[in-house]
Amino acid sequence: MSKITAAITAVGGYVPEYVLTNKILETMVETNDEWITSRTGIKERRILKEDGKGTSYLAIKAAEDLIQKKGLDPKEIDLVIVCTASPDMKAASTAAYTATEIGAVNAFSYDLEAACSSFLFGMSTASAYIESGRYKKILLIGADKNSSFINYKDRATCIIFGDGAGAVLFEPNEEGLGLQDELLRSNGEGREFLQATYGGSSYPINKDTFEEGKHYVFQDGKTVFKNAVFNMADVAEKIMKRNDLVNDDIAWLAAHQANKRIIDATANRIKLEDDKVMMNIQRYGNTTSATLPLLLFDYESQLKKGDKIIFAAFGGGFTWGSIYFKWAYNS
Ligand SMILES: CC(C)(COP(=O)(O)OP(=O)(O)OC[C@H]1O[C@@H](n2cnc3c(N)ncnc32)[C@H](O)[C@@H]1OP(=O)(O)O)[C@@H](O)C(=O)NCCC(=O)NCCS
Repeated sequence: MSKITAAITAVGGYVPEYVLTNKILETMVETNDEWITSRTGIKERRILKEDGKGTSYLAIKAAEDLIQKKGLDPKEIDLVIVCTASPDMKAASTAAYTATEIGAVNAFSYDLEAACSSFLFGMSTASAYIESGRYKKILLIGADKNSSFINYKDRATCIIFGDGAGAVLFEPNEEGLGLQDELLRSNGEGREFLQATYGGSSYPINKDTFEEGKHYVFQDGKTVFKNAVFNMADVAEKIMKRNDLVNDDIAWLAAHQANKRIIDATANRIKLEDDKVMMNIQRYGNTTSATLPLLLFDYESQLKKGDKIIFAAFGGGFTWGSIYFKWAYNS
């Protein structure tokens, strides 16, 4: 009997309506469109504005898009994983609420958090369950409402992040398509360079800590940039080497959308032409856990059965990795 592999069989996505352009940011902080565009590649990002709507709102919308497009009965879903760095609330699972709202009443569900690598690591988790034969339909969602912890007076961070969600369905495949190999890493020495210090268990928010504003995300941009460039390119190159892949074999690079210059550096290292590099950072900015599924959402119509895709991500922690994947369908 042939080995069961874990393939993606459907994609959905959602971004909020409100568009925060570079021009609008010019009126909020000391910055300009030219600086943002040349340093990051970002032109605009989407923001979920309505009070009381959290990450689950985005996750539910993306999941509903997938369910509707695929004609999927949500009762057949075994597991819902919400990859997110911005859960709705502490102590209550965002995934449990999401699963119930979409009608996945027979599924169990949980959140998975690895900062901007959450979705990449989630692909590994979902695939392992499928390969084991234990579950047949896993809905993997990447969703983040980054605007909930961004300081819109800090020009070093507010220009980068946006809100959004993407969803994919993992199912067993008997043609050898889907996840082929993975190289996943982390290094806790990196956490001082990218974090929201207050509001977690180390430093709960009180009146004094609130005044300091350290519940907002902070980053040492240059250090994060250097580590992202080095590590994302490194794992992408290594995973290609150990699978005997050269640039001509690869149809697409799907890299975490943190900064266009980081994506370009990764593509250069594996010698991939621009037209094979998925890119939508100009429209959404960095949506953390949602960047990879939103790339699949935007590029789905161009993907062909058998296409070899290199996924790569880097995030806070630090966390990073690369996955070699074969696409399973023509849309
Ligand atoms: C944040 C980032 C775009 C900044 O770009 P950079 O080239 O490193 O810029 P620097 O931080 O060195 O700043 C250069 C200058 O621009 C200024 N600057 C910073 N943000 C600015 C902004 N939004 N608009 C205009 N000027 C800005 C700085 O104050 C600095 O001025 P100075 O030279 O007078 O001190 C870049 O470091 C980056 O993308 N880092 C990675 C971030 C990331 O990917 N995070 C998520 C990882 S998952």
